[in-house]
Amino acid sequence: MNEEVKNEILRLKEKGLTNICVEGELEQIAELTVEINRLKKLKNAVILAHVYQRPEVILGISDLVGDSFKLSSDCSGINADIIIFCGVNFMAQTAKILNPNKRVFVPSPDAGCSLSDSIKKEDVIALRKKYPDAPVVTYINTEAEVKAYSDVIVTSSNAEKILSNLYKKNKRIIFIPDKFMGRNLARSLNKRIGDEMILWDGSCIVHEKFDVAVIKEYRKKYPNMMVMAHSECPSEIIENVDFMGSTSDMLAQIKNTSAESYMLVTECGLGELATTMFPDKKFIAMCRLCPYMKMTSLENVLETLKNLPSNNEVILSKDLIERSRKSIDMMFELAR
Ligand code: 13P
Ligand code: SF4
Repeated sequence: MNEEVKNEILRLKEKGLTNICVEGELEQIAELTVEINRLKKLKNAVILAHVYQRPEVILGISDLVGDSFKLSSDCSGINADIIIFCGVNFMAQTAKILNPNKRVFVPSPDAGCSLSDSIKKEDVIALRKKYPDAPVVTYINTEAEVKAYSDVIVTSSNAEKILSNLYKKNKRIIFIPDKFMGRNLARSLNKRIGDEMILWDGSCIVHEKFDVAVIKEYRKKYPNMMVMAHSECPSEIIENVDFMGSTSDMLAQIKNTSAESYMLVTECGLGELATTMFPDKKFIAMCRLCPYMKMTSLENVLETLKNLPSNNEVILSKDLIERSRKSIDMMFELAR
């Protein structure tokens, strides 16, 4: 093993990767991260990663890590020629919309999202026609075309605030496409579904499948555990947890509390990241993998950075960028 790889293993250990990997895995990871970090400098590239990404991607090669809102707000000021987005396609599209003059690449072009697949621009046009008085509030997990027909974009960390502001001036709001998040928001804001809030039939394939009975079983075993769930979970899950929020809300909650143990009802990447961020806290595993988020690996990041393949580049027309940008800018204004 050469000196560079040895030093890289030490760096990765300091970052907390030993909490989730064994020694042999660290060597393989270090060989790849050394090469990726070298190429990143050479090509003046920056790597962004969503918190659901594999820990070696987050801790080994990423410059910016966060939830959907943080990644969109931080990526506006990026000073690099190339952005490599380790996440899913709608996130990389958002990075392109906010950085039209930079080249944006995704390591896996097949990384979709069941929510963004659930709705097309024609559906939004039809909803607008049916409810002409209602603004369209769209979860960020959507294609650029859908954003272009929306009034404002929200993420899980600002949806409640933005909707509550909008309800001051509007009796009815169309919230798309996540029906579970919509129901959770309608409940928090005390709004009637089908009348004050119009929903779409979209859902996240990861968060819709958690089981209340399993949470109850774990609670018996760990009575002082704090259970947190992502707001994409169905309401019966939310009714049985202690905290609901975005991925960054959950990390903040762990930081600011001292429960005996924590359970994160969300994608497994968040729990793995939490283990490295809070090594003294205890986490009880109950999570599901997002098949799309897990399509990104160190191997395909390296391949992307090396060859900048045209298949992996996010290409959006100038017109689409301008039209979808308006609803994203509106989010920044209303979330302030
Ligand atoms: P966050 O914005 O909370 O990170 O959520 C993104 C997502 O895709 C959750 O499934
Ligand atoms: Fe989409 Fe769900 Fe995966 Fe998030 S976890 S990217 S909402 S499929």
